[in-house]
Amino acid sequence: MRQCLASGGFEICLWANNFPSVVSHLPSAARTESTELGLAENCTDPQEQALGLQWHCLTDQLCYKPKSMESKIPTMRHGYKVFIGTRVSKIQDLTSLLTSRYVDTANNPADNLKTLAELAAQNWEQKSEVTERELKEVLAAMEPCYRRDLPSSGSSLSSTHQKLPTLVAAGSDLPKLPVPALGETLDLYLRCVKHLLSEEQFLRTQRAVTVFAAPGGVGEQLQKKLLERREHKANWVYDYWLNDMYLNNRLSLPVNSSPVMVFPQQNFRAPIDSLRFAAHLISGVLEYKAQLDTRTLPKDYARGQLAGTPLCMEQYYRLFTSYRLPGPQRDTLVAQESSVMPEPEHIIVACKNQFFVLDVVINFRRLNERDLLTQLEKIVKMAASEEERLPPIGLLTSDGRTEWAESRRVLMKESTNRDSLDMIERCMCLVCLDDSSGADLSDTSRATTMLHGGGVGKNGGNRWYDKPMQFVVGSDGCCGVVCEHSPFEGIVLVQCTEYLLKYMIGSPSKLVRAASVSELPAPRRLRWKCTPEIHKHLSSSADKLNKLVRNLDMNVHKFHDYGKEFIKKQKMSPDAFIQVALQLAYYKCHGRPVSTYESASIRRFREGRVDNIRSATPEALDFVRAMTDLKSSTSDTEKMDKLRGAINAQTKYTILAITGMAIDNHLLGLREIAQELKMEKPELFKDEAYLISNQFILSTSQVPTSVEMFCCYGPVLPDGYGACYNPQSHHLLFCVSSFRNSARTCSAGFVRVLEQGLREMRDLCQKTQAHTGSEPNGKSKERALGVEVRAQNAATPQIKPKENPTEPRSNNV
Ligand code: COA
Repeated sequence: MRQCLASGGFEICLWANNFPSVVSHLPSAARTESTELGLAENCTDPQEQALGLQWHCLTDQLCYKPKSMESKIPTMRHGYKVFIGTRVSKIQDLTSLLTSRYVDTANNPADNLKTLAELAAQNWEQKSEVTERELKEVLAAMEPCYRRDLPSSGSSLSSTHQKLPTLVAAGSDLPKLPVPALGETLDLYLRCVKHLLSEEQFLRTQRAVTVFAAPGGVGEQLQKKLLERREHKANWVYDYWLNDMYLNNRLSLPVNSSPVMVFPQQNFRAPIDSLRFAAHLISGVLEYKAQLDTRTLPKDYARGQLAGTPLCMEQYYRLFTSYRLPGPQRDTLVAQESSVMPEPEHIIVACKNQFFVLDVVINFRRLNERDLLTQLEKIVKMAASEEERLPPIGLLTSDGRTEWAESRRVLMKESTNRDSLDMIERCMCLVCLDDSSGADLSDTSRATTMLHGGGVGKNGGNRWYDKPMQFVVGSDGCCGVVCEHSPFEGIVLVQCTEYLLKYMIGSPSKLVRAASVSELPAPRRLRWKCTPEIHKHLSSSADKLNKLVRNLDMNVHKFHDYGKEFIKKQKMSPDAFIQVALQLAYYKCHGRPVSTYESASIRRFREGRVDNIRSATPEALDFVRAMTDLKSSTSDTEKMDKLRGAINAQTKYTILAITGMAIDNHLLGLREIAQELKMEKPELFKDEAYLISNQFILSTSQVPTSVEMFCCYGPVLPDGYGACYNPQSHHLLFCVSSFRNSARTCSAGFVRVLEQGLREMRDLCQKTQAHTGSEPNGKSKERALGVEVRAQNAATPQIKPKENPTEPRSNNV
């Protein structure tokens, strides 16, 4: 079957089958665990939940097995289960695998219009009649999925032509990411690594490159395959990149992978204030989500370098619909497909390490802020009850990915746990109501609290790290968002978060005016059945999280002396200037250059994520050597020349990267396609230089914000630094992280030296300006810069900046 599907260009990713004998020969990564476990060999009751229903696999019957409900009023979810079950069985009656036929709306159970009409006519709420007004309410409740064409009063619904929204990928009109020319990538690779290697290492690398690039050799074969891949994929590097960057990584998500946004410190005078804040925030999330569901989010256009080009919007649609499922070798990024019949939506609220389901639509109505507050108050009360308290299962998600995959496998043996996991995996987002962290509320403390929750004794278990968006509302006013990085980049996170903060500032809380839905069912606490094995896993996860907490060395620093306006006045790119300053700081601290990563957005292309700007350029090294060599007789003018050289090289590399012509994605593609073709790993990728050049001791990223908040993340290597910066007009914010158990690094020390270097660079600009009496003109001699803008090859679409971007947005890409 695999072969047969492969011939049509398909690949089976995951099997679900009710008979263990069918799936038993497959590797575990290719099987879904639930069915396999639920239907173990000698199972006497071969039933499994499907679409929330019971499926009897031997008779192939679906039925709805009512559960005792905790509330008197059934929520939408219960109604949907009945409705979907009936519909699935009707569709099954009409279709079979081998035949298909046309069925008109009136008789077609899968038709949207009929679906809506029937949905409204369901007698879920003990109403005997459904009026047209109620019907419209149903449609309104379902609006996110429909571009509605409501019938005018009196007209019959069945005669109305209902249009579905065109759910085309939000970026399919953009050019495809180019595949750079092989020779150019290899030349640039050599230029990027030469000064990071010993002479001997470099000679070996040169030989490996020559063999790889030989005419008719392996490089050309792989390049040809990549070009073919580009033809049939929306984005040839996307899957390779996602696995390499995130899903293959076995390190725990907090600190090592998940960036956070830290909100301005809130001043909550009473406990209710934090719940009001949370209710207001959730209202904003629902507003934003409605825009996503209707695909009405305004398009982003690039700013900064090559401003004006439209950007791919796909990442936004993963904010509230994805989940990172842990796997034994590799995780899976699961995306909820946008369906015509949406799942009733819910948020998971974490409070005192307990998880509660907060339905945000009840009785076809989206809860207003007043209702949300009422529900949050109930949750806080329920969470306070000591007797009912369950173990802090969220801690398991903070563990290494392989360890968490194993704990999850054990959890899944119990149907109670399966149900709870299912609710968390399908939720929109988490809202974590944190206890006071007890730390001082400086930027640095709030950043660390956000990155790891403060460990087991604090809010470390009040998280679920697999979920992309976790809004943290601390009773001490420490608030922010923890995000799982694999579905989107920091810039998209910033756009969403800025929307929410602006919403909260711009639309005053509606707590007083809003009428509440009477008698809301209490939110449901998620239950866990914990075997001794799970308790063992929990205590191991707790130990590791506490170690991580102790190990993180974070420093958030506002550099007040100048901001990007000063740098622009020097006719220099602020981003390049800061990158050169980071190179200077590292060199001052460690006396050598190191492989550096700067994320560059490639959202100008279809499904584009990022590539790498290798900021440790030879020109930067030349400059930092001149600045740090005390014996050197380099004059200020020469130093200034070197500074301009470094900034030009950095800017040129940036342009290569954002136009899809950098080397990291290309080399990754060549490496991965060789593996896919089951070829022996080319020497180029076994070479020491390749390993060294991919050890990003400095992991940097610009995440600018236009409201008061900041982003930060941890280092990616034991001896590395994470350096996230937020350039503002008149100051620069740096969030530097490292690990305490490294003898080589110290975040505060790095920040001190960085600040010193930034001042020296400013002084240099001012001194040379005063000396020559000239205005900064950016026209330093055209030198043989290491990095040239690479010619766009045949596979490269031409990207022209739009002359007049119609909707410039505040993001910086
Ligand atoms: N003289 C004067 N002004 C200049 C200049 C020069 N020589 N060069 C640039 N500028 C101006 C730009 O016009 C821009 O002006 P604006 O603020 O009015 O828009 C401003 O300086 C900033 O430009 P620059 O500093 O060059 O950076 P950029 O905004 O182009 O950003 C990247 C560069 C690489 C950061 C950006 O392209 C990118 O990819 N960002 C995404 C990073 C990311 O993904 N982060 C999240 C990772 S999780």
